[in-house]
Amino acid sequence: MSEVNPRALIEAARAASKHAYAPYSNFAVGAAVLLSDGTMVTGANFENASYGLSLCAETVALAKTSSEGRLAEVVAIGVIGGRMGHADTAPVSPCGRCRQIINEAAQLGGHDLPVFCGGAAGDEIAAYTLSQLLPAAFGPRDLGMV
Ligand code: THU
Repeated sequence: MSEVNPRALIEAARAASKHAYAPYSNFAVGAAVLLSDGTMVTGANFENASYGLSLCAETVALAKTSSEGRLAEVVAIGVIGGRMGHADTAPVSPCGRCRQIINEAAQLGGHDLPVFCGGAAGDEIAAYTLSQLLPAAFGPRDLGMV
């Protein structure tokens, strides 16, 4: 099990946010998923002209992780966001839908995942656990999968 380095996760999320496709909101989000062997899988938000089809950065990163067969190996997540062209420092925390998506990895892996949140710039990191962000979650456990 590799050490969780919140700063490294935030920096990887920031790098990923450079590839945000967000021409409608102009709000760039990046996410970095840490796996138990130290691998980081990143994602950025991916918007669509049909706005409601847009995908969040966390969802993109976790879909990439799942498509590599590694959803149960997730040990931590970092997310950052901010308005394009600004150096926003306020930490961005995952939207409600993404919390539910993160919970899939958390319950499969049997961890209460740490979630580190940052802004597009600055040193502030807000640290949560998924159970703080999504208490009494419904998930694969309820369906008898784990
Ligand atoms: N967004 C994310 O990527 N993750 C979140 O947790 C919050 C919101 C994206 C969706 C949309 O592309 C933009 O941020 C503005 O809502």
